[in-house]
Amino acid sequence: MNNPADARHLLGQHFTPQPLVRLVCSLGIRTGTDRVLDPACGDGAFLRGAIARLQLLGQAPPGDHQVCGFEIDPQQAETAAAVAGASVQARDFFSVTPAAEFDAIVGNFPFVRQELMARKDAIRKLVQAEWLEEFLEIRTLSGRPDLYLYFFLHAARFLREGGRMAVISGNSWLHVPYGRPLRRFLLTRMSLRLVLESRAEVWFPNTVVNAVVTVADKLPAGSDHRVRFVQASEPLAANDAWANTMVRPYPMNDGGADIRTWANTMVRPYAAEAGCDASAFPAAWPVRETPASVLAADDDWHCRLRAPAIFYEIIERAAGRLVPLRSVARIKRGITTGLNEFFFIGKSRAAELGIEPEFLVPVIASLKNVKSLVLRPEHATHCLLAVDRPGARLAGTNAMAYILQFERSDSFRADSPTLRSRAEWFRLKLPSPADLLLLRFRRERHFSPANPAGMIAGDTVFTASALSRANAPLLWAAANCTLFHFFAEVGGRDNMGGGFLTTYGPELRALRVPAPPCLRPLEPQLSAAFNRLAVRDVTTMEHELGRPDRRALDELIWQALGLPPNMLDELYRTFGQMLAARRRFGEITRGRRSLSE
Ligand SMILES: C[S@@+](CC[C@H](N)C(=O)[O-])C[C@H]1O[C@@H](n2cnc3c(N)ncnc32)[C@H](O)[C@@H]1O
Repeated sequence: MNNPADARHLLGQHFTPQPLVRLVCSLGIRTGTDRVLDPACGDGAFLRGAIARLQLLGQAPPGDHQVCGFEIDPQQAETAAAVAGASVQARDFFSVTPAAEFDAIVGNFPFVRQELMARKDAIRKLVQAEWLEEFLEIRTLSGRPDLYLYFFLHAARFLREGGRMAVISGNSWLHVPYGRPLRRFLLTRMSLRLVLESRAEVWFPNTVVNAVVTVADKLPAGSDHRVRFVQASEPLAANDAWANTMVRPYPMNDGGADIRTWANTMVRPYAAEAGCDASAFPAAWPVRETPASVLAADDDWHCRLRAPAIFYEIIERAAGRLVPLRSVARIKRGITTGLNEFFFIGKSRAAELGIEPEFLVPVIASLKNVKSLVLRPEHATHCLLAVDRPGARLAGTNAMAYILQFERSDSFRADSPTLRSRAEWFRLKLPSPADLLLLRFRRERHFSPANPAGMIAGDTVFTASALSRANAPLLWAAANCTLFHFFAEVGGRDNMGGGFLTTYGPELRALRVPAPPCLRPLEPQLSAAFNRLAVRDVTTMEHELGRPDRRALDELIWQALGLPPNMLDELYRTFGQMLAARRRFGEITRGRRSLSE
């Protein structure tokens, strides 16, 4: 592969910064006699890290074939083969027949999206055949996973019973439906120990993939061990306890003072089983422990990583009074036109074109400039061309002139699947009006504008329609209380970077809201509290937390949920911290600050 950018994409080549290599090797390699494998060793960063780690544990130099690596790219493999003490083979890892002989697997699995994967079906069939007898659910593995997911499964075949895997991968397996077989695998065929992500730095600045470190032992499940979900809230290299050892490059070839410092501050805490113990992590890192028996493969584990303790306390205390949004409302994406630049026409342009009013409907193209909690027609900056009749019956109209003019322009692409699915490409069916809009992208603001005028919205938002008409006003209050926004903060994804949180259909449908029957007795008070919020502009969520009118709505919701008042204070405090952390993480990802030594 001549072009390095192609190699990076097609082979998932992202090289791991040294502090992270050291952390992963410390987690994965427990004794000086461990045999270690990196299945995708690139230029050998983990092989060097493994050898250094073994030296610290008293093994110097490593034995023959004690540290092994595979690498598909011959150029990378050649560089890795120069690492003294490592055995490297330039091979596709999936062509290697497994033997369960390694004590530790460390490395950074390639991030390759399934659309770009070569031999996807063959790899899937291979890992299915490997695990079918011991793990029947492997049959449910779909063709959707990224390459790294197959690495987990094939690599586990190389571990002896009791061996440990400490690896870096993309984080999507934690929550997407196609990650379910891996989640189940880590609970039943392995003993998951640790999932760790950083909220303080971007480990791989050249990719949009967010990485996590996963540690799992190959032990039959059953023992009710604890799984730790950890967020590094400081850069690895900046942490006090690690500073001396991680900021400076580790001197690979000598056993001098630096090694002892490294051993004392970095390795001792990770020795043996303590490798995943909460006490081994610097106090500033939030560690959330969960008995493995409580984890289910159907759960959103990303949420486990992110959700503070109060999230679970509220859910437990208000059990039965909180229901998923999908049980009270139908959630749909805003209208998908397939060609917004044609269908969405600025109001003044529509007037210029003289398009007949009967073909125009006001549309909320985006919520970016909407400041109010209640949508009104003046919030529509655009009109939607809504023509649901055959072109033959439009002859002589200005709407038809606009259609014909657009068909001749360069922007016209009649081959898009959305347009092709229509009788005539310009005939758009309007959705039924929704009761409120739900944000798809969140940065500083959280709000769910009420839509009493039944306005149409574009596909940058989702819409919610109450399943029972009588519940619409209750939903306006429920979807705008601080608790709902907190749930969105916990359940949203921030993979986009830049401080953005995304909430798409699956996340929105799962968000919990206070159940309408609990709210009903307080309906007049809730409406009054909502209306008071609606007379002013929506501000940033951090600012909203200091507004008495918001607090008034939240206190009513709290009363309806039967929760103690001090818990509301705790929610405000925790939510404020989460918002500030995301804002800071946004600044880091916008600045593309990477982990540096
Ligand atoms: C994320 S990089 C990690 C490289 C190195 N271990 C590091 O962390 O700096 C993943 C590596 O996997 C290699 N790779 C991709 N597919 C592979 C396969 N099927 N078998 C072996 N290596 C593969 C890529 O060439 C790339 O070097």
